[in-house]
Amino acid sequence: MRNNFSLSDAKKNAKSCVVATGILVTRFGTPGRRRFLDYLLGTTVLATLGAILYPIFRFISPPQIVEAAKNSVIAGKVGELAVNAGKIFKFGSKPGILVRTPTGDLKAFSAVCTHLECIVQYRSDTKQIWCACHNGQYNLNGQNIGGPPPRPLEEYAVNIRGDEIVVTKS
Ligand code: FES
Repeated sequence: MRNNFSLSDAKKNAKSCVVATGILVTRFGTPGRRRFLDYLLGTTVLATLGAILYPIFRFISPPQIVEAAKNSVIAGKVGELAVNAGKIFKFGSKPGILVRTPTGDLKAFSAVCTHLECIVQYRSDTKQIWCACHNGQYNLNGQNIGGPPPRPLEEYAVNIRGDEIVVTKS
Protein backbone atom coordinates (compact mmCIF):
# COMPACT_ATOMS: atom_id res chain seq x y z
CA MET A 1 0.00 0.00 0.00
CA ARG A 2 1.37 3.42 -0.94
CA ASN A 3 1.51 6.32 1.46
CA ASN A 4 -0.22 9.28 -0.20
CA PHE A 5 0.84 11.77 2.48
CA SER A 6 3.45 14.17 1.03
CA LEU A 7 5.44 17.09 2.44
CA SER A 8 3.19 19.60 0.69
CA ASP A 9 0.16 17.99 2.38
CA ALA A 10 1.88 18.32 5.75
CA LYS A 11 2.54 22.05 5.09
CA LYS A 12 -1.07 22.55 4.10
CA ASN A 13 -2.24 20.81 7.26
CA ALA A 14 0.09 22.90 9.39
CA LYS A 15 -1.24 26.10 7.79
CA SER A 16 -4.80 25.01 8.35
CA CYS A 17 -3.98 24.30 12.02
CA VAL A 18 -2.52 27.77 12.39
CA VAL A 19 -5.55 29.21 10.68
CA ALA A 20 -7.83 27.13 12.91
CA THR A 21 -5.92 28.25 16.01
CA GLY A 22 -6.11 31.81 14.77
CA ILE A 23 -9.85 31.48 14.40
CA LEU A 24 -10.07 30.09 17.90
CA VAL A 25 -8.01 32.97 19.23
CA THR A 26 -10.10 35.41 17.26
CA ARG A 27 -13.36 33.85 18.36
CA PHE A 28 -12.53 33.60 22.10
CA GLY A 29 -9.70 36.05 22.46
CA THR A 30 -11.26 39.44 21.97
CA PRO A 31 -9.60 41.95 24.29
CA GLY A 32 -12.72 42.57 26.42
CA ARG A 33 -13.37 38.92 27.04
CA ARG A 34 -9.72 38.17 27.59
CA ARG A 35 -9.47 40.94 30.13
CA PHE A 36 -12.61 39.68 31.85
CA LEU A 37 -11.24 36.14 31.94
CA ASP A 38 -7.90 37.41 33.29
CA TYR A 39 -9.77 39.34 35.96
CA LEU A 40 -11.91 36.33 36.81
CA LEU A 41 -8.85 34.06 36.99
CA GLY A 42 -6.95 36.57 39.12
CA THR A 43 -9.75 37.01 41.63
CA THR A 44 -10.27 33.25 41.79
CA VAL A 45 -6.57 32.73 42.54
CA LEU A 46 -6.64 35.49 45.17
CA ALA A 47 -9.78 34.08 46.80
CA THR A 48 -8.27 30.60 46.87
CA LEU A 49 -5.03 31.88 48.39
CA GLY A 50 -7.02 33.82 50.98
CA ALA A 51 -9.10 30.76 51.84
CA ILE A 52 -5.91 28.74 52.36
CA LEU A 53 -3.74 31.34 54.09
CA TYR A 54 -6.29 32.93 56.42
CA PRO A 55 -6.92 29.78 58.53
CA ILE A 56 -3.16 29.16 58.68
CA PHE A 57 -2.60 32.74 59.84
CA ARG A 58 -5.36 32.40 62.46
CA PHE A 59 -3.87 29.11 63.66
CA ILE A 60 -0.38 30.55 64.01
CA SER A 61 -1.30 33.86 65.64
CA PRO A 62 -1.98 33.58 69.38
CA PRO A 63 -5.54 34.25 70.53
CA GLN A 64 -6.27 37.52 72.23
CA ILE A 65 -7.00 36.52 75.80
CA VAL A 66 -8.77 39.27 77.53
CA GLU A 67 -7.14 39.24 80.94
CA ALA A 68 -9.65 40.20 83.51
CA ALA A 69 -8.35 43.45 84.86
CA LYS A 70 -9.96 42.63 88.16
CA ASN A 71 -8.07 43.33 91.31
CA SER A 72 -10.65 41.63 93.48
CA VAL A 73 -13.17 38.85 93.14
CA ILE A 74 -15.84 37.21 95.23
CA ALA A 75 -14.31 33.89 96.22
CA GLY A 76 -17.36 32.49 97.97
CA LYS A 77 -19.96 32.93 100.68
CA VAL A 78 -19.09 33.23 104.35
CA GLY A 79 -20.86 30.07 105.53
CA GLU A 80 -19.74 28.03 102.57
CA LEU A 81 -16.33 26.93 103.80
CA ALA A 82 -15.97 24.67 106.83
CA VAL A 83 -13.10 25.02 109.29
CA ASN A 84 -9.95 23.20 108.09
CA ALA A 85 -11.07 23.19 104.45
CA GLY A 86 -10.14 24.87 101.22
CA LYS A 87 -11.60 25.64 97.85
CA ILE A 88 -10.36 26.73 94.47
CA PHE A 89 -11.83 29.88 92.98
CA LYS A 90 -11.26 31.75 89.75
CA PHE A 91 -9.26 34.95 89.91
CA GLY A 92 -9.39 36.33 86.37
CA SER A 93 -7.84 33.67 84.18
CA LYS A 94 -5.87 32.08 87.06
CA PRO A 95 -6.98 29.87 89.93
CA GLY A 96 -6.83 30.97 93.53
CA ILE A 97 -7.18 28.94 96.71
CA LEU A 98 -9.26 30.02 99.68
CA VAL A 99 -8.51 28.26 102.97
CA ARG A 100 -10.36 28.34 106.28
CA THR A 101 -7.61 27.38 108.68
CA PRO A 102 -8.10 25.05 111.70
CA THR A 103 -8.36 28.20 113.86
CA GLY A 104 -11.13 29.62 111.60
CA ASP A 105 -9.11 32.31 109.80
CA LEU A 106 -9.65 32.88 106.09
CA LYS A 107 -6.57 32.94 103.88
CA ALA A 108 -6.27 33.23 100.11
CA PHE A 109 -3.37 32.57 97.78
CA SER A 110 -2.65 32.04 94.16
CA ALA A 111 -3.31 28.35 93.49
CA VAL A 112 -0.53 28.18 90.91
CA CYS A 113 2.41 26.20 92.26
CA THR A 114 5.68 28.13 92.06
CA HIS A 115 7.51 25.04 90.82
CA LEU A 116 5.94 24.08 87.47
CA GLU A 117 2.56 25.79 87.77
CA CYS A 118 0.34 22.87 88.75
CA ILE A 119 -2.75 23.78 90.75
CA VAL A 120 -2.32 23.30 94.47
CA GLN A 121 -4.97 22.03 96.90
CA TYR A 122 -5.66 22.11 100.62
CA ARG A 123 -5.00 18.97 102.62
CA SER A 124 -6.98 18.88 105.83
CA ASP A 125 -5.00 15.86 107.17
CA THR A 126 -1.63 17.64 107.05
CA LYS A 127 -3.14 21.15 107.35
CA GLN A 128 -1.02 22.29 104.46
CA ILE A 129 -1.41 23.49 100.92
CA TRP A 130 -0.13 20.70 98.76
CA CYS A 131 0.89 20.29 95.15
CA ALA A 132 0.24 16.79 93.87
CA CYS A 133 2.55 17.11 90.88
CA HIS A 134 5.85 16.75 92.78
CA ASN A 135 4.74 16.70 96.41
CA GLY A 136 5.29 20.41 96.95
CA GLN A 137 4.17 21.68 100.35
CA TYR A 138 3.25 25.13 101.60
CA ASN A 139 2.22 26.17 105.11
CA LEU A 140 -0.87 28.23 105.84
CA ASN A 141 1.09 31.44 105.29
CA GLY A 142 1.87 30.29 101.75
CA GLN A 143 5.54 29.63 102.56
CA ASN A 144 7.17 26.79 100.64
CA ILE A 145 8.19 24.28 103.30
CA GLY A 146 8.77 21.05 101.38
CA GLY A 147 9.36 19.60 97.95
CA PRO A 148 10.63 21.46 94.92
CA PRO A 149 8.66 24.77 94.98
CA PRO A 150 11.26 27.57 95.01
CA ARG A 151 9.07 30.41 96.25
CA PRO A 152 6.03 31.07 98.45
CA LEU A 153 2.57 31.32 96.95
CA GLU A 154 1.33 34.81 96.18
CA GLU A 155 -0.92 35.83 99.06
CA TYR A 156 -4.15 37.79 98.62
CA ALA A 157 -6.04 39.95 101.08
CA VAL A 158 -9.35 38.56 102.32
CA ASN A 159 -12.27 40.76 103.38
CA ILE A 160 -15.85 40.01 104.30
CA ARG A 161 -18.48 42.14 102.58
CA GLY A 162 -21.96 41.19 103.76
CA ASP A 163 -22.04 37.43 103.32
CA GLU A 164 -19.42 37.43 100.59
CA ILE A 165 -15.72 36.66 100.85
CA VAL A 166 -13.85 39.22 98.75
CA VAL A 167 -10.27 38.41 97.74
CA THR A 168 -8.03 41.24 96.63
CA LYS A 169 -4.56 41.29 95.09
CA SER A 170 -2.29 43.49 97.12
S1 FES B 1 4.52 21.74 90.09
FE1 FES B 1 4.07 21.86 92.17
S2 FES B 1 5.63 20.73 93.09
FE2 FES B 1 6.12 20.64 90.99
